[in-house]
Amino acid sequence: MGVTVYFLGAVIVALLGVWQSESFLYTSHECVANDGPFSCTYEEARDKFRAAITPFLRDANDMQSYPVSDEGLEIDIAYIGSKAPTGLVIHMSGTHGVEAHAGAGVQTDWLRKLSEGTGGKEVTEFIQPDRNVGIVFVSLLNPYGMKYGRRFNENSVDLNRNLLTDKQWESLKKSGGNAKKEYEQFDVPLFNPPRPAVWSDSWLTLPKALYYTVIYGVNTLKTAVVTGQYYNPKGIFYTGDKIQPSYQAVTDYFQNRSELFSNVRTTMIVDVHTGLGPAGIDTLMPDSDAVCNYFPGAPVCDSHASEATTEVAAGYELVWGTTSKLITALPLGIPGSHMHVCQEFGTVPGIMVVNALVLENMAYHYGTSGVSRETFQQGLRDAFYVRNDAWEELVRARGALVLEQAIVGVSKA
Ligand SMILES: *[C@@H]1O[C@H](CO)[C@@H](O)[C@H](O)[C@H]1NC(C)=O
Repeated sequence: MGVTVYFLGAVIVALLGVWQSESFLYTSHECVANDGPFSCTYEEARDKFRAAITPFLRDANDMQSYPVSDEGLEIDIAYIGSKAPTGLVIHMSGTHGVEAHAGAGVQTDWLRKLSEGTGGKEVTEFIQPDRNVGIVFVSLLNPYGMKYGRRFNENSVDLNRNLLTDKQWESLKKSGGNAKKEYEQFDVPLFNPPRPAVWSDSWLTLPKALYYTVIYGVNTLKTAVVTGQYYNPKGIFYTGDKIQPSYQAVTDYFQNRSELFSNVRTTMIVDVHTGLGPAGIDTLMPDSDAVCNYFPGAPVCDSHASEATTEVAAGYELVWGTTSKLITALPLGIPGSHMHVCQEFGTVPGIMVVNALVLENMAYHYGTSGVSRETFQQGLRDAFYVRNDAWEELVRARGALVLEQAIVGVSKA
């Protein structure tokens, strides 16, 4: 039985490989820096963002930078718009380090269009100093992850599972995670083999993943993947055991600017991710179904708070600590009501994303043998960033539209 499944798995993987040959087995083409809004590295992404937002900064406090790792990698948090906002958009990139290729690209692209005067007219009006909308751009929330091609941060924590309340920390301490039972089935055999990564892992892990998917079911795998875990600090999807420095930075920023935000009545958080769903197509996952009304025309809008109905959002029922809790889990002091939407751009098939995550994580914690760590870092980058014009064009267009719909939405506050 096992051998048959492995064999079938290998065949499927080979077919997937032909289909997605660009990103398969890490025969990746190099990432070459260019003038476009997308970037290959943390430094490039940061420079582009800072250059793009500078024309809109009015006050010395409008952009602040916070070191968050031992080596001083920084998050930039910047404000543009109304002098007294009642509607606020918080637009976030790089919550998952390596996923910042898309989010940072969206932010830089949109700001560049705004300075060229090619952005939406109505939207440009709403963010004038004497109007009522402001935007906080959180640029590269997980700079360590972006710099080193990781989804996790400098403490190996998944920042999109870390925004937990005191009560939730207590609960996770007891349980080890809301899906510990599911996660444990995959832990050592598939997710986190505690040994160096070798080249053959790059093609053996895929049939292995298929094998365990067949044994335990695709829903179990999905639940284990998206829910994360509290008990294994070296394992993938670790929630951490306390609030991370990146969120202290966000807290410091909002507390520093509490006067500016004191009249806010409605906040919309937009957090840009990649890695789930069909290549270039975005799924909106808001914190409630009502939020979908703000984003007409979205290919998919599916709240994972209630019963999820689509494939991408399925399995999120047990998930805690996402950026939807930015305002409730952190003492930001932003008044009024708030909403959240995760904009998730698809890249390569999910099983290949898991494969890339497993390999990069093994290489990070246990090193490699006979193959460089960069090979697996590039593999991870390619799983979250599809470097071709068609994909980038979709990300730019839909990224800008969702940001503008958020602006229009909160302008009524
Ligand atoms: C905010 O931060 C800036 C820069 O660090 C500082 O000069 C200013 O005093 C701070 N303002 C408040 C209200 O904390």
